[in-house]
Amino acid sequence: MKHLRRETVLAITLFSILLVSFSVNFVSAQSVPEWVKNTALWYGEGIVSETEFLNMIKFLIESGIITLESEDDVISEVMDAMVIIPHRNSDIENVGFYMPLNLEIPVDTTVTWINEDLVPHNIQSQDKFGKISDVFNSPTLNSGDRFEFTFKEDGVYNYYCTFHPWRVGSITVK
Ligand code: CU
Repeated sequence: MKHLRRETVLAITLFSILLVSFSVNFVSAQSVPEWVKNTALWYGEGIVSETEFLNMIKFLIESGIITLESEDDVISEVMDAMVIIPHRNSDIENVGFYMPLNLEIPVDTTVTWINEDLVPHNIQSQDKFGKISDVFNSPTLNSGDRFEFTFKEDGVYNYYCTFHPWRVGSITVK
């Protein structure tokens, strides 16, 4: 295995941090131009000076190719989660479970439910007896509608749909 110099590791680490902590305005990371990758690599190998490397980053920011976000935005992006209400969720048969059925998230995560079924649903938190509790309660979600809730406290939260009460899902907040 090729031995990487300390500077190379540092440069790769720095570049990775840059790519991760900046929102990249490319369709995907694969479309990062070759010269950007090369400059990062050359910087690591000492061919390109630190000034040139930083100038490249500056150019990328100034030209709007990468955009700086506040740390809070980066964190909130990481802390987002989704639950899909899939097609046939209304069926009483063993199909169409919430995806995921049991979502595990850290505290302060915003969960978004998306109705991808063809019929309306809702999301109602349940108490331990299975009755509606007022922790989170969505209006009727038509096909394509979303509902969001941010979990501030740990615990296990069950929820169901009042139109299709056989559909129960859970959110575990740790
Ligand atoms: Cu439903």
